[in-house]
Amino acid sequence: MRPEKEIIFVTTNKNKVKEVQDLADAEAKSITIEHLEYDYPELQLEEIESVARESANYIREKMGLKKPFFLEDSGLLIPALNGFPGPFSAFVFEKIGNEGILKLMADKEGEERKATFKTVVAFCESAKNAPLLFVGTAEGKIAEKIRGKGGFGYDPIFEFEGTGKTFAELSIGEKNKISHRSRAFRKLLDHLL
Ligand code: IMP
Repeated sequence: MRPEKEIIFVTTNKNKVKEVQDLADAEAKSITIEHLEYDYPELQLEEIESVARESANYIREKMGLKKPFFLEDSGLLIPALNGFPGPFSAFVFEKIGNEGILKLMADKEGEERKATFKTVVAFCESAKNAPLLFVGTAEGKIAEKIRGKGGFGYDPIFEFEGTGKTFAELSIGEKNKISHRSRAFRKLLDHLL
């Protein structure tokens, strides 16, 4: 049997932890995810990759963790808004929320409503190792209105391509089959296994 491996997920977002733990339980039983609730500063950089990499470097320096750890940064990118909110997704969600995004999209139709969710996982084997990045994306469109009670953040306005359902209308297991986060995290699992 494969040896057990413990990895630490550094985040204050319990929804992300639930999704990642659910995925590891279903697809990588030898890997245990430990949650470290640590609120590192939200960096305002122009690329989600840079935010993930620099946040991991910050944690390497500050915490000196002995075990392998990872964190992730995610964002919603809307091409019709020149990629906004992208790396500023957390700030924008706090300020204008889903209602605000729907207002910005009010005059957009068809292809113009396309959107991409992106997650960049930054993994360090230890505080001594530079982060490895794993990227996952999900394509979809901005719904006409808020729909669904599940998920978190932008889930109620993100309709996954072809399904006609928003991420908030899916269970965690269903979202994990197709989401940006699961696609990035699966790449990390492949690397570890
Ligand atoms: P961050 O990765 O925590 O910085 O997330 C940026 C913003 O996107 C926050 O407002 C999150 O709530 C939101 N967000 C991150 N991941 C998801 C997701 O899977 N679904 C919906 N919103 C998300």
